Amino acid sequence: MKKSKSSKPVVGILMGSDSDWPVMKTAAAVCKEFGIVCEALVISAHRDPHGLEKYASSAVKRGIRVIIAGAGGAAHLPGVTAAFTPLPIIGVPIVGKALDGMDSLLSIVQMTPGVPVATVGVGAGRNAGILAVQILAVADAKLQNALFRFKARLTKESRAKNKTLSAG
Ligand code: RP5
Repeated sequence: MKKSKSSKPVVGILMGSDSDWPVMKTAAAVCKEFGIVCEALVISAHRDPHGLEKYASSAVKRGIRVIIAGAGGAAHLPGVTAAFTPLPIIGVPIVGKALDGMDSLLSIVQMTPGVPVATVGVGAGRNAGILAVQILAVADAKLQNALFRFKARLTKESRAKNKTLSAG
């Protein structure tokens, strides 16, 4: 898809540390695929709480429409971001040094009533990116058409997998 005319980011991709980038860059790649301008930043909820407050509370004014936030361990970044903005927040649990990502998953998914975070699977940066595109497509017919084409491609690829089977 063609790149959008504006160079102003509409998707914010946040992560607790640069060690989260291998997962989060897959979300950035999806934005690029669909011609959506995004920005990516390390802003830790625990190491830089004031920076996070500043970013999240000014995001609407700056033209951000969706925020994807990934973190590992005591993964409070998506939830705290959601506390400061009415924008939809997509949380990406990241596998940390212990517990196989269960700690991150539960920290992100078990949100306080009234402050939801749309949580994708552990390490599922690409799905987070697709969901962000789908949210933006609600008010963008061109983007919606691109998603129809994307889904048709998934179907084609899935059916092609039958060729690799050799039952019987
Ligand atoms: C979390 O701690 C980050 O999101 C990251 O997943 C994890 C480890 O951070 P580093 O020690 O790699 O900086 O806050």
